[in-house]
Amino acid sequence: MVDEERPGAQRWVPDTTAVSALAEAAASCHGCELYRDATQVVFSAGPQESPLMLVGEQPGDQEDQRGRPFVGPAGRLLAEALTAAAIDTKTVYLTNAVKHFRFERRGKARIHKTPDVGNITACLPWLEAELQAVRPAVVVCLGATAGRAVLGRPVRIGAERGALMPGPERLAPAQVLLTTHPSALLRLRDPADREPAFGQLVADLAVARDAAKPA
Ligand code: URA
Ligand code: SF4
Repeated sequence: MVDEERPGAQRWVPDTTAVSALAEAAASCHGCELYRDATQVVFSAGPQESPLMLVGEQPGDQEDQRGRPFVGPAGRLLAEALTAAAIDTKTVYLTNAVKHFRFERRGKARIHKTPDVGNITACLPWLEAELQAVRPAVVVCLGATAGRAVLGRPVRIGAERGALMPGPERLAPAQVLLTTHPSALLRLRDPADREPAFGQLVADLAVARDAAKPA
């Protein structure tokens, strides 16, 4: 049954392997309800030729306003972690599982709301098209939403993080690695927890970096 609110993005996805054309077409996507309240679509950043693709959850408040992924606080932390892992931030392809900001209004504030499975499923045709266009050697899933989108099943980051796994057959020979989302680090209450959590994120990114290097 097709959910009228969430017909899915497929009909808006052009038959192309040019990321620029995908990004342009995504601006008119009505594949789920999220386009209505968001400011604009947030597609990807970074070179299409990258062997390393990082998938986040969805744009946040600042990304929604600026139209670019990972330009807010989580993005700054991610950039720090990439640099610490000796990865040049300009060389990675960065995208999100869901391309519009989902939020709740509280007064003037817009509070991030985790996309549900229906949003992930509706938006998946964009991510699939990007995966086929970029054909990365390694896909790093930042958090459970990205993991679910890429692997097509619920994931447990704590139990599954940090190990290279074979990607789904349609992405072969790509490998997939799960790690924490940088926003999870920002939410840690105790500053003493942040340093080890950051270290773990950096270590996971380093595993992906080595695997993405041409042999
Ligand atoms: N968090 C994400 O998952 N993606 C962004 O682009 C920004 C914050
Ligand atoms: Fe389309 Fe994805 Fe935006 Fe929903 S979130 S409208 S499926 S681009």
